Amino acid sequence: MLKTENIKLAIIGAGRWGMNHVKTAASLLPHENIVVFDSNPETEEKIRQISDKIQYSSLPFFHLSRGMGNIFQREHSNVDDFNAVIIATPAETHFEIAKKCMLAGKNVLVEKPITLVPEEAEELLNLSLSLNLKLMVGHVLLFHPAVLRIKDGIEKNEIGKLQYIYSNRLNLGAIRSEENALWSFAPHDISVIQYLVGDNPTDVQANGGAYVQNGIEDTTMTFLSYPNNVKAHIFVSWLHPFKEQRMVIIGDKGMYVFEDSLKTEKLKFYKKGFKEVDGVIEKFDADYEVINFEETMPLAEEQKHFYESILNNTTPRTDGKHALEVLEILDKATKKLKGGMME
Ligand SMILES: NC(=O)c1ccc[n+]([C@@H]2O[C@H](COP(=O)([O-])OP(=O)(O)OC[C@H]3O[C@@H](n4cnc5c(N)ncnc54)[C@H](O)[C@@H]3O)[C@@H](O)[C@H]2O)c1
Repeated sequence: MLKTENIKLAIIGAGRWGMNHVKTAASLLPHENIVVFDSNPETEEKIRQISDKIQYSSLPFFHLSRGMGNIFQREHSNVDDFNAVIIATPAETHFEIAKKCMLAGKNVLVEKPITLVPEEAEELLNLSLSLNLKLMVGHVLLFHPAVLRIKDGIEKNEIGKLQYIYSNRLNLGAIRSEENALWSFAPHDISVIQYLVGDNPTDVQANGGAYVQNGIEDTTMTFLSYPNNVKAHIFVSWLHPFKEQRMVIIGDKGMYVFEDSLKTEKLKFYKKGFKEVDGVIEKFDADYEVINFEETMPLAEEQKHFYESILNNTTPRTDGKHALEVLEILDKATKKLKGGMME
């Protein structure tokens, strides 16, 4: 049983995504154990609608850099110490804020991407190891029950030898000007593929196109080659006529299809493929079965996992090492993308 009263949490950044963290934390922790920092004063009213026991500060976090622990105490005298910080500010601020939090002795859950460049992620990872603090990153799909079920099935040899994986994450979605579609969407897919394969790619290739804004790719295709002839590709776009979130995982005995954008039957198992019988290649082609799974909330599972890692001193599933590997793939894909744009 998780002793949530032992977690004292600061959430830094409560914008579009960070507010989900606030609501989730409010469903898991005593409200007086939560304080929210967001430099936009309009956030206060939204926090008040969730709970009047959650404390709020509109001071931009950088101004709190010196003696952060003391400022937390002075500003919020009834909260004597924090052992957990969730950072959901824009990506370019992650490194500085996470570093300051860890130097002040706080365990950190920082949103994806961990930082913008691998060197900074490496510094955060080393800091967490030398200070013996938890560094976790919000790769939320690794807390999705369907992804956990797929991983379990692969480990139990349900689909045989893993051969290839692809992911489509497509929509006529919100376009961003501070990052391209690769950085906006692909961290989720890279994180899942890394988790399922359990290895690092030996080669990363990428291509893409910018149509709506100059130099900001609306659509990208990334190819990953792993040891043992495992291949993967990731197709992301916010310039697409309909929403599709589909991941297909192929093995030599069967296949999974995971479609998170569907309302029902999100995960299917297909017993399809080819096998050699007396030197002849034969197709096997059975109908699919729906795999049911418990409908848990990935963000709540992610936060619980963070709190458990602090209270039980365990390594988070999406630790700094995992996040650094995801970032290194993003970094390599970006270099390929910028070298070979279809403009
Ligand atoms: N895990 C996921 O599925 C997921 C989904 C969406 C976004 N994200 C990530 O969450 C992060 C935030 O994204 P968003 O869409 O919520 O952005 P946003 O711009 O809507 O919100 C950022 C918030 O941070 C606040 N802020 C900025 N600098 C601050 C500072 N120094 N001190 C205090 N507050 C500060 C802003 O006032 C704003 O409210 C990004 O890293 C993004 O990639 C993750």
